[in-house]
Amino acid sequence: MSRKPAILFVCLGNICRSPLAEAAFRKAAAEVGLDAEADSAGTAAYHIGEPPDPRSIAIAADHGVDISHYRGRQIEARDFDLFTHIFALDHSNLANIRRIAPQGHPAHVALLMDMVPGSEGSAVPDPYYDGEGPFEYTWRIVWPAAQALVERLATSK
Ligand code: 4NP
Repeated sequence: MSRKPAILFVCLGNICRSPLAEAAFRKAAAEVGLDAEADSAGTAAYHIGEPPDPRSIAIAADHGVDISHYRGRQIEARDFDLFTHIFALDHSNLANIRRIAPQGHPAHVALLMDMVPGSEGSAVPDPYYDGEGPFEYTWRIVWPAAQALVERLATSK
């Protein structure tokens, strides 16, 4: 029996990109009625327990998703058993995830953009230091990626 999809999105701080990826995935899954778990985490411990960056909260709200209750956390060993898929937002996150992955873990680990035909192998750039504009740009990248992921999960049963 195949497990219910459980998706973990991982960036560096878990306050900018991965909360937006989680929000986009939740919205895309709800739109097609896909039953899946979702969470996000950071590879770094900088923002544990903190809400997302206010710029991420604002962009998610613009797109109809409230992420103000999300709280930062760091990826941990048990995530590799709890989640069926772990998606890194950039290459550095991917390398760090692979470095801490327990041997023989069952989770599928990849870049989020590997889900988007034509954008395989590319990163979602870090918007943290760049003001407001990059956050709308981040949404415009993670939204189609989330839709592509949902479509794959919905059709792989
Ligand atoms: P994120 O962005 O990885 O998309 O959440 C960052 C958030 C915080 C920091 C760096 C990137 N920081 O250095 O605190």
